[in-house]
Amino acid sequence: MKKIMQERYSCREFNSKKIDNSVIEEILDLTRLSPSSCGLEPWKFMVVSKENDLKELGQICNDQAQVSGCSHAIIVIARNDLKGGCDFIKAQVDRKPRTPERLQKALDHFAARFDPQTNEELMHYASLQCYIASANMVNIAQSLGVKSCIVAGFDPQKLDKFVSLGEHFKPVLIIALGYSDEIAPSKTRQSLDKIVIYK
Ligand SMILES: Cc1cc2nc3c(=O)[nH]c(=O)nc-3n(C[C@H](O)[C@H](O)[C@H](O)COP(=O)(O)O)c2cc1C
Repeated sequence: MKKIMQERYSCREFNSKKIDNSVIEEILDLTRLSPSSCGLEPWKFMVVSKENDLKELGQICNDQAQVSGCSHAIIVIARNDLKGGCDFIKAQVDRKPRTPERLQKALDHFAARFDPQTNEELMHYASLQCYIASANMVNIAQSLGVKSCIVAGFDPQKLDKFVSLGEHFKPVLIIALGYSDEIAPSKTRQSLDKIVIYK
C-alpha cells in the first residue's frame, strides 16, 4: 500500500496499449468492495473503450487528451433512487437475512431518513460514496500496473446525455485508465504538521 500511495499519480499521457478486459474487470470487481454509507453502494460504473466513444468523451471533458487517449474510461455514476418506494433501496436492504419484521424496520428506517430529502440532496449523498469508490479504483489500478487520472472537468449536460441512464443517475467522475511511458512526477504535498491537528 505504501508503494501504491507513493507511486500513483494523475497520468495525462497514455500510450496506445490497451488494457486487457480481464484487468478492467478485476479493477471493477475490487472497487465494488469499497465502503459506502449504510452499505447502500449507490453507484454504477460505465466502461467506455471504443475509439469513437473515447473521442467524444474527451470532447465532453473540455478536450482533455488523457480522456480521448486512454485505454478505458470508467464513468462513475451516482444514483439517488433511495426513497422508500424505490426498487433499488428495497433490493439493497433485502440482501441480508432478516425476519420480515426486521426487514420492515430497516425499510422504515431508510424511508424516515431519505424520503424527506430532495433528489439533489440524495444525489449529493450518493456522489460522496462515488468519490470513495473512485479513490479506491485509482489505487487498485496502480496495484495492477495501470495508470489513471481522475477527471471532474466535464460538461455536465453533455455527459448526462452521453450516459443516458435517466433521472436517477448522474455521472460524477471519470477515471481514465491506461498504460504510459511517462516518468512519474515527484509528489507535491503539504507537510504533516500543516494538516494534522492533535487535540
Ligand atoms: C475530484 C478530482 C477531480 C479531478 N479532475 C481532474 C481533471 O479534470 N483533469 C485532470 O487532469 N486532473 C484532475 N484531477 C487530478 C488532480 O489534479 C491531481 O490528483 C492532483 O493534482 C494531485 O496530483 P497526483 O494525482 O498526480 O498526485 C482531479 C482529481 C480529483 C481528486
